[in-house]
Amino acid sequence: MEKIDMITAAFNGEALNGTIRVPGDKSISHRAVMLGAIAKGKTTISGFLAGEDCLSTIRIFSQLGVEIERNGSDVSVTSPGISGWKNPVEALDAGNSGTTARLLLGILAGSSVTAEITGDRYLRKRPMRRVTAPLNEMNARFKGNTETETLPVTVEGTKLKAMSYEMPIASAQVKSAILFAGLSAEGTTLVTEKAVSRDHTERMLRQFGASVQSEETSVSIAGGQSLQACDVKVPGDISSAAFFMCAAAMVPGSKITFLEVGLNPTRTGIIDVLQEMGAKVSFGERVNGEGEPYGELTVESSDLHAIEISGAMIPRLIDELPVIALLATQATGTTVIKDAEELRVKETDRIEAVCSELQKLGAIIEPTPDGMRITGPTKLTGGMLRSHGDHRLGMMAAISSVVADGPVQIEDASCINVSYPGFFEHLDSLTRSKH
Ligand code: S3P
Repeated sequence: MEKIDMITAAFNGEALNGTIRVPGDKSISHRAVMLGAIAKGKTTISGFLAGEDCLSTIRIFSQLGVEIERNGSDVSVTSPGISGWKNPVEALDAGNSGTTARLLLGILAGSSVTAEITGDRYLRKRPMRRVTAPLNEMNARFKGNTETETLPVTVEGTKLKAMSYEMPIASAQVKSAILFAGLSAEGTTLVTEKAVSRDHTERMLRQFGASVQSEETSVSIAGGQSLQACDVKVPGDISSAAFFMCAAAMVPGSKITFLEVGLNPTRTGIIDVLQEMGAKVSFGERVNGEGEPYGELTVESSDLHAIEISGAMIPRLIDELPVIALLATQATGTTVIKDAEELRVKETDRIEAVCSELQKLGAIIEPTPDGMRITGPTKLTGGMLRSHGDHRLGMMAAISSVVADGPVQIEDASCINVSYPGFFEHLDSLTRSKH
């Protein structure tokens, strides 16, 4: 992640055509390892995302004494169950992964383990108080820098008590950390959100045999339930597909089909936005089995127009906003993104970074306190862009080259491996071009 490298992408309006299966969903892959580690016995995972973030999760649970074997995207997790975990010898390093760190805080809080959690230089700047503050109300014990409330933090697992908590922000990481803590707490824990965030934790807890009640924006879980090891299938990550969905929508003559892509309604805001902006989206076979819904999806180019994106839609597409901003540079009118201040505390400040990088290519885009305003359509130029160490910024930069009239160089592009190993191979195969 600290490595600086440079990649040049030069596609200049070439149409994108073909069929791909994007790598496994990052959020679901993390949770499959975590729940497999909490449950006693052997869990198998297929379609696992072997990106750097999820590999950090695997490493951490191995340090806690869970036996994890990986062969490509097939993973087996054999665990003595949460009560059999051992204290790790070294700190648990979540790398760049906020999901790993925050969910782990909730999981370890009610375990019998004492461990230090840390991360890379980007993650060590990100706020952890949103998780430690509610967990403290459940009796959790944390030691660390109480002034900055950032990693590293030491968790001393202890007996927790249930609580009712109203979350000030819609965040699946915070909700999940509290639900995991609730699983080992005494009593029933209730979490209420302002708007529904991704519900992968709730779905997977049920798949592992736990009883979890969801009602509109509230979720509750009774403590003391034990989980049953099971088989988990991870669908393709719609947040990764989003880069190519937007590329197909923007470049005339493009048509891309995505196989087995996750279609969980708490994640499909990108599809709604594409359709509202005028892109052609069609659906193939859909599977609605146990766990997560997924299916086949095709996106074709079309004339695009500006829209407003705000409110309850934001948590349903929070990670797609960088590439949506790029998409909006090719749409007629002014696209307004509001209520998205959470973007400021992602892998980087995505409001400032997206605006400053796209401006380098001539985009008409300006930051606002809680979002951005983008006016189009603009023919972008080539240029030299920085990823800011953020995988989604790196991919946004690469995709900008399909609508730019010159090459786009991307500095520090290796971070793309955090969520999309094989990204450039897919880009190449879809454009049949060189870079
Ligand atoms: C995630 C939740 C979201 C998202 C992140 C993954 C998760 O973060 O941005 O990439 O797996 O729970 P927040 O919970 O901070 O919104």
